Amino acid sequence: MNDTSIQLVRETFDLVEPIAPQAAAMFYANLFAADPLLVPLFKGDMAAQGRRLMQMIALAVSKLDEPTTLMPALAQLGQRHAGYGVRDAHYDTVGVALLTTLRQGLGVAYTPEVEEAWTEVYGVIASTMKAAAKLPA
Ligand code: HEM
Repeated sequence: MNDTSIQLVRETFDLVEPIAPQAAAMFYANLFAADPLLVPLFKGDMAAQGRRLMQMIALAVSKLDEPTTLMPALAQLGQRHAGYGVRDAHYDTVGVALLTTLRQGLGVAYTPEVEEAWTEVYGVIASTMKAAAKLPA
């Protein structure tokens, strides 16, 4: 992850944050359209779940250049996700739903460079979570 990717991800997340509830709803609509089997993994109120998701992405985006803070938080998140029934392949589905949501939400601001930067950042988050999910709890 270079500084340009981090900056692009931060700038575009700033554009999404004011519409965070709508973005979260779009994200889950995209996710469940891609794989309806994921619906029953979510047990609680989806508006609250959307807020937690957006807060966690905000935290990750703000700490991208502080890996000693970010990586343990992501590792714990990944371990908790194993307990929710989340498997490795689901991370690809979530990644596609995330990029689709960014494309829908950002419009013309969703450039190829922005797509590349988010792909890279999501890749780091997902691989950290997946690796932690394989460790003994
Ligand atoms: C960027 C990657 C992800 C982030 C930032 C993220 C964030 C979160 C957060 C903050 C929570 C609240 C509970 C907690 O903190 O443990 C949560 C719960 C959950 N996430 Fe994720 N998540 C990610 C990837 C995924 C993936 C790949 C799936 C697979 C479908 C998934 C499914 C779930 C489920 C099922 C719950 C529990 C919902 C419930 O208890 O009703 N997440 N996630």
